[in-house]
Amino acid sequence: SEITPLIAGNWKMNGLSAQLAEFQLLGEKLATLKDRRAMVAICPPATLLAAMSEKGAVNGIATGGQDCHASPSGAHTGDISALMLKDAGAQFAIVGHSERRADHGETDAQVREKAQAAIAAGLTPIICVGETRAEREAGQADSVVATQLAGSVPDAAAANEVVIAYEPVWAIGTGLTPTNADIAQMHDGIRKLLVERFGGRGETIRILYGGSLKPANAKEILAVENVNGGLVGGASLLANDFFAIISAA
Ligand code: G3H
Repeated sequence: SEITPLIAGNWKMNGLSAQLAEFQLLGEKLATLKDRRAMVAICPPATLLAAMSEKGAVNGIATGGQDCHASPSGAHTGDISALMLKDAGAQFAIVGHSERRADHGETDAQVREKAQAAIAAGLTPIICVGETRAEREAGQADSVVATQLAGSVPDAAAANEVVIAYEPVWAIGTGLTPTNADIAQMHDGIRKLLVERFGGRGETIRILYGGSLKPANAKEILAVENVNGGLVGGASLLANDFFAIISAA
């Protein structure tokens, strides 16, 4: 694909300041990589975002938040706005991760508003979609993802950068992955829907794969048609593993 791949790490609720040493190590390893093809980003917990953004600027690693509120400011105790992420140096904001959808009951409409807020703040939203095991077994994977996509991607994607992340829920943190054929089919379907809705622009929107991506399977998964990078959870916490995935892109 001609799209520059994006390898994004999602640290989830992991990482104290000591973990920044691992991030530093990743930067040093990346500096040794010749012909790096992929763009690299890490989405740490918000507490590390400013420090990581400062170091990342030196190492060529972008940063992102893991969620944002739909409003730019206000009486929302415990929440964080897209503007705050931007202010802390972020370039991306993950929205609608399945863990947010499950833990916080986020709906497609809310995810769309968050993605819209991210765009308004000058961030690139990484909008997550993906079916559960039960939905896949019931033959509903395609329709579930199509519905999430239609509801979660804002119209502003027509004129602003957005990233889609396909993450089958049953593949997250389980060591299980779909077959390459199933990944190809889903990414192809997502591409078609994006082109239907956004025309030629839909051809250039990155579609990441996420779910148990690791050094052992990165090469083959990242080579699948319409896979424009990966969203990496567990393996992004270890500099060696994450570096191996970046090298495979
Ligand atoms: O956002 C990342 C995904 O949820 C994947 O997590 O690589 O630990 O399976 P994982």
